[in-house]
Amino acid sequence: MPPELPAGGEASRVRVLVTGAAGYLGGAVVSALAGAGHEPLALVRRVGTAPPAAVQERLGDLLDAGSLDRAVAGVDAVCHLAGLECDVVLNGVTGAAGLRATLAALDAGRTLALANKESLIIGGPLVTSRAKPGQIVPVDSEHSTLAQCLRAGATSEVKRLILTASGGPFRGWPRERLESVTPEQALAHPTWKMGPLVTTNSATLVNKGLEVIEAHLLFGFGLDKVDVVVHPQSIVHSMVEFYDGATVVMASPPDMRIPIALGMAWPDRVPEAAPACDWTTAATWTFEPLDDGAFPAVALAREAARLGGTAPAVYNGANEACVADFLAGSISFTRIVDTVARVVSEHDTSRTGATTIEDVLAVDAWARARARELTRIG
Ligand SMILES: NC(=O)c1ccc[n+]([C@@H]2O[C@H](COP(=O)([O-])OP(=O)(O)OC[C@H]3O[C@@H](n4cnc5c(N)ncnc54)[C@H](OP(=O)(O)O)[C@@H]3O)[C@@H](O)[C@H]2O)c1
Repeated sequence: MPPELPAGGEASRVRVLVTGAAGYLGGAVVSALAGAGHEPLALVRRVGTAPPAAVQERLGDLLDAGSLDRAVAGVDAVCHLAGLECDVVLNGVTGAAGLRATLAALDAGRTLALANKESLIIGGPLVTSRAKPGQIVPVDSEHSTLAQCLRAGATSEVKRLILTASGGPFRGWPRERLESVTPEQALAHPTWKMGPLVTTNSATLVNKGLEVIEAHLLFGFGLDKVDVVVHPQSIVHSMVEFYDGATVVMASPPDMRIPIALGMAWPDRVPEAAPACDWTTAATWTFEPLDDGAFPAVALAREAARLGGTAPAVYNGANEACVADFLAGSISFTRIVDTVARVVSEHDTSRTGATTIEDVLAVDAWARARARELTRIG
């Protein structure tokens, strides 16, 4: 059964464990926690025992003021920390590396505010089968939006979920022009400030492909009921269409503070979490279909999700390896998704499901190695 969102609750002081705290998302979480009066219990980082100067700066005065109990190192630390008395584990690690933290939080019975979509996608049933109804609250802005819009009607009344995509920095570009894209160009996202992996994924549209699978797993709708539309302004953060023809949208300026605040306080809203739209100024919102020819990543993600089993983990693992190579300057932009497609097609689809974390990590490692092998062959 896919996890359901909690039905009720009260806004109160929440003790939160933040993984990936030094990242863009993690930093925004810590600021949002301070603003809402919640308590960041611990920050979990990958390296070092103390946050470096750049991180101190990003996390503001909180660390200086000693308002954080501790900053600890090592993604495995979360496995122990999740067992501490906390209310919410916010998983803000990037990539497949977030899987252990997701599983540890679920096993410890914590509410999992999930920014790290990759762990859900690669784990699939391994993650969803461990989650109690309401235990996973999405922090991805699109999925937080879908959760909000789904409050407007019964599940049986939903016709489809519509994920919005900014289209990234190369919206409207033909495939030939994408060949020569540089890492610097790919990292210049028009509307969101994010880490290098998710920013590159937004440029290739792999991020939207991952989000289609994420919506399918989180809300339990078939893949054919999850659509994507390009909305360059990133004001409408997704929509739900109901059977009577009504479409419910959530709109706000692009700012992660609203989904983060909801991740901490769901189902309650946090007063003034972020500025609302300014309705006194003329504005235009546009919507356009996705160009699947130039950006095949979404269709490929659907194919991986349809194959099921460990295919989504292969899609993600191959992509993470290719993005690292692209950012290092060793492969072209278009080679990322081309290679992912090849690795997904080579994956042994007779493997119907991964039952342990070791299974998933083994497939992830195979996908990375195979992607690197293919890109080295030329
Ligand atoms: N940024 C956004 O606005 C946004 C919005 C929606 C969803 N998300 C999702 O949130 C996640 C984080 O995104 P981000 O933009 O914050 O990325 P980011 O700035 O690159 O931060 C990534 C964080 O993950 C940690 N990390 C990376 N590899 C790790 C590993 N192997 N083990 C342990 N920790 C590791 C890093 O720790 P160190 O500091 O120790 O290296 C860093 O704190 C992604 O899944 C992304 O898709 C982000």
